[in-house]
Amino acid sequence: MASSTLLAPRSGRSRFKTVLWISLGLTALFVFVTSEVLLVTDYPMYHAYRLQVIADRELLIPHSLSGLIALLAGPLQFSSRFRQHHLQIHRVLGRVYVICVFVGAFTGIALAAGRPGLPGTSMQAAAWIVCTVAAFLTARNRQIIQHRQWMARSYAVTFTFVSSRVLNLWPRYWSHLGDTFAAVGVIAFTLASLLLVDLGLNWRELTTRRA
Ligand code: HEM
Repeated sequence: MASSTLLAPRSGRSRFKTVLWISLGLTALFVFVTSEVLLVTDYPMYHAYRLQVIADRELLIPHSLSGLIALLAGPLQFSSRFRQHHLQIHRVLGRVYVICVFVGAFTGIALAAGRPGLPGTSMQAAAWIVCTVAAFLTARNRQIIQHRQWMARSYAVTFTFVSSRVLNLWPRYWSHLGDTFAAVGVIAFTLASLLLVDLGLNWRELTTRRA
């Protein structure tokens, strides 16, 4: 599957990467404004959730900071040019990413403890850790193709923070958060993200017949 990514014509591949990162960036910006900024400014629909967030601040601060670092590290870590020119920084940032995923995952589980979302969050956290540890081990073993694949999966889980909040402003979606829908929703977003990444990694094999 990574062979597809590696063998694709270079210009087409880098154009695809540029469009992908711009789309992900714009989506993250949209979610930041419609979820986080409105949460801070006490948007009426989020009022009850805001009180819960304030009560959870001791866990939420390390959770959000580590999640944010993992989210922001992505574009840099996936950049081929950056890796070629700054391999040492790539390695250091990679380790920081792994630590952030562990902190983010365990604080995420602690935040969900005692709530209906716990099973979903635990599965999401497990997927986050498994993909990230696999990415770390393959990097250490110099299995670079597999390392990229596992990092793409790990980052897909990191990005569920954004994808699962895209519909937040839609009252019908929001009003169901906190009940069983939230628990199932988190699992669905995680699975869908991982499937999308694997479809992308296998795109050439899925669309080209072998001669
Ligand atoms: C990019 C990575 C992430 C960032 C930046 C991040 C940040 C945040 C922030 C700012 C909040 C509180 C405000 C809000 O809900 O919007 C939050 C809540 C939460 N996050 Fe994360 N998060 C990330 C990924 C994850 C992951 C992968 C998990 C699962 C392990 C997780 C589990 C939770 C839970 C359970 C809550 C509390 C939700 C609730 O109270 O209903 N987060 N996160």
